[in-house]
Amino acid sequence: MTSSDRSAVTAPDHLSAHDLITTTRAVRRRLDLEREVDPRLLEECVADALQAPQGSNLMRTEFVIVRDPGRIERLGRIYREEFDGFYRASETGLYNRVDEDPRHARQSRRTRDSAEHLAVVMSRVPVIVIPCLTPRLAEGDVLTAKHRLATVYPTVWNFMLAARLRGLGTCWTGMTLGREDEVAEIVGIDPALVEQVCMIPVAHYTGTSFRPAWRPPAEEFIHWDSW
Ligand SMILES: Cc1cc2nc3c(=O)[nH]c(=O)nc-3n(C[C@H](O)[C@H](O)[C@H](O)COP(=O)(O)O)c2cc1C
Repeated sequence: MTSSDRSAVTAPDHLSAHDLITTTRAVRRRLDLEREVDPRLLEECVADALQAPQGSNLMRTEFVIVRDPGRIERLGRIYREEFDGFYRASETGLYNRVDEDPRHARQSRRTRDSAEHLAVVMSRVPVIVIPCLTPRLAEGDVLTAKHRLATVYPTVWNFMLAARLRGLGTCWTGMTLGREDEVAEIVGIDPALVEQVCMIPVAHYTGTSFRPAWRPPAEEFIHWDSW
């Protein structure tokens, strides 16, 4: 598809930039499992994603876009096994952590319920996107890893914002990163060369609007001039 064809696929939703950045949520319950996603929409989202900042202007993010239901079913199974095993037991996860602020605690309970829902439906979402980095990060070289991942993350977030503009919900997930080799085998990745960054379910979202989430005041996170 050429760039001139793109506008024929979709007219992006006209959200304000402020609404876009403050109301793009992790979508789990509102993923429409029945509705197909036009692959051209996904191609548009990748094109928009690549507009993100790149360290030294090196294009480093590649996207495996899985639409085959058999592969999605297998990926979803791994996701759920990790959620039910590793995640439920994790000390910093949503099951065992105590959030001091009651507003944060309420939000975390809702997130936990929503995350449980995703664990159940991950094997039935219409699309799973796996952003990747190649070559792999070198063991122990944290400085280089910082630079290289910093090139990938804005691109991935741009993808998620671009999806939102096209009526698609997404959720950044890291649940399967501990099972990279199995995921690689399912989608034909060479794990010696290619590093998976996350796994993103994508589907049209149900309903129309999203709201900003509760967050603590910004001043609690700012250190003017020195820490
Ligand atoms: C690094 C990272 C890993 C995440 N992993 C998961 C995950 O495995 N499963 C999941 O349901 N959500 C996951 N999330 C989504 C977060 O739970 C979500 O962004 C957070 O609860 C805030 O929710 P909101 O974006 O709707 O405000 C992850 C987010 C990030 C940034």
